[in-house]
Amino acid sequence: MSSLLHIDASIRTEGSTSRQLTSYFATQWRQNHPDADYVYRDLGAQPIPHITHAVREYVLDPSRDHGQTADEQALVDAVTAEVRDADTIVLGVPMYNYTIPSSIKAWIDLLVSPAHMVPPGAESGALSGKSVIVVTARGGSYAPGTPREGWDYQEAYLRAVLSSIGLADDLTFVHAELTLAAIVPAMAALKPLGEKSLATAHETLKKLSV
Ligand SMILES: Cc1cc2nc3c(=O)[nH]c(=O)nc-3n(C[C@H](O)[C@H](O)[C@H](O)COP(=O)(O)O)c2cc1C
Repeated sequence: MSSLLHIDASIRTEGSTSRQLTSYFATQWRQNHPDADYVYRDLGAQPIPHITHAVREYVLDPSRDHGQTADEQALVDAVTAEVRDADTIVLGVPMYNYTIPSSIKAWIDLLVSPAHMVPPGAESGALSGKSVIVVTARGGSYAPGTPREGWDYQEAYLRAVLSSIGLADDLTFVHAELTLAAIVPAMAALKPLGEKSLATAHETLKKLSV
């Protein structure tokens, strides 16, 4: 049976573009896969704590006790099982200070383990073969020709780290840019471009949800 893992990370619960878009995708996908399983994790509302040494040791070797608490162990096991069991993952990623939210980084720190790394020279690993859709929302634009072209430290990083654990076989980025144009007066002239970016993101997600 197919399964969707839906993850949000915006610190906003109201007015979040990334939440709006991942929710749109999840609704469409679930309509198209009525018998599929669905799991939701909200890293914005319930952040994963920064990794500790004991947790890192458990991630590296879950067969032994490293002094991790039962709650810490349960969290690593749950995050790992959610990703392993999904065949489609939609990840909502707001841009914070040109990169991913620290909540997403904390989630990644639990997932990157010897059990999941694609071995050197190998083509696949334990998590390979999934469809992963990363939906970003950013206040500005980082498109070619814009003043901050090259300041997007989300996409290249996520491509690299997700590929290291086999999650980049079928990886698509959908960017909603210029979200701040709707509310920042100095960006008012960019509002139509922001609206176009949002509409294009919806169209792309609809196509990806089949
Ligand atoms: C802490 C913080 C840092 C931000 N840093 C950036 C940034 O570096 N570049 C940018 O374009 N927008 C930045 N923004 C704006 C957000 O990317 C924008 O509001 C986006 O829509 C947030 O996602 P959301 O709508 O899902 O909450 C920042 C917002 C916050 C709260």
